Amino acid sequence: MPAESHPNLTILDHPLIQNKMARLRDEATSPEDFRRLTSQVAGLMTFQACRDLPSRETTVRTPLEEAVAFRLSAPITLVPILRAGLGMVEGIIALMPEANVGHVGLYRDESTLEAVNYYCKLPPEVAEGPVFLVDPMLATGGSAIAATDHLLKHGCQDIRMIALVAAPEGVNAMAESHPEIRVYVAALDRQLNENGYIVPGLGDAGDRIFGTR
Ligand code: PRP
Ligand code: URA
Repeated sequence: MPAESHPNLTILDHPLIQNKMARLRDEATSPEDFRRLTSQVAGLMTFQACRDLPSRETTVRTPLEEAVAFRLSAPITLVPILRAGLGMVEGIIALMPEANVGHVGLYRDESTLEAVNYYCKLPPEVAEGPVFLVDPMLATGGSAIAATDHLLKHGCQDIRMIALVAAPEGVNAMAESHPEIRVYVAALDRQLNENGYIVPGLGDAGDRIFGTR
């Protein structure tokens, strides 16, 4: 199945995003710069993924007169997948400071590449509005699928996944498990290598964000 067959995949090819992606991929980029760029790209991507957020008409009193205005009409929840997803939070929360933040803890077992659950804490209103599920990497798709399962169990209906880099394998797995979830990526790479890493990719996102390698 070609990766493009995901019914809800959007590749965000905005030049400002791609310019930062070039620096993120560069092995010479320092952890400090990598963190900053991850956060910035996440914000730019989310801005585009917010285009159709529900809003309601209201009025506000300007210093001159009453004006028609629009406000977001449902609580937004941001859900980073621990741990690398944390690197995306700051850039997104800067755009929507009123958002709640939930956390889903998952890591990939390095030998089986299966996602292992270790934490889930979601705000009580999570099902009442859009949820942005964020993780820099969509590789086999195991982590994204497991995180989406948590969100669906909690009643979420409008789930949007934001990942910096995806492999066709992960996109296809998401399409099979959760075709209704909108997936936004900055890059759809060639494939997974024999260790389950996305190639060309950008390496281990968590290690590069937190300087653990
Ligand atoms: C990475 C990444 C995703 C997952 C993607 O996390 O941040 O969560 O792998 O791989 P998948 O699509 O095959 O599930 P990792 O498990 O390395 O944990 P970390 O964030 O703690 O570094
Ligand atoms: N997780 C990462 O951090 N990088 C990959 O390429 C695949 C999974």
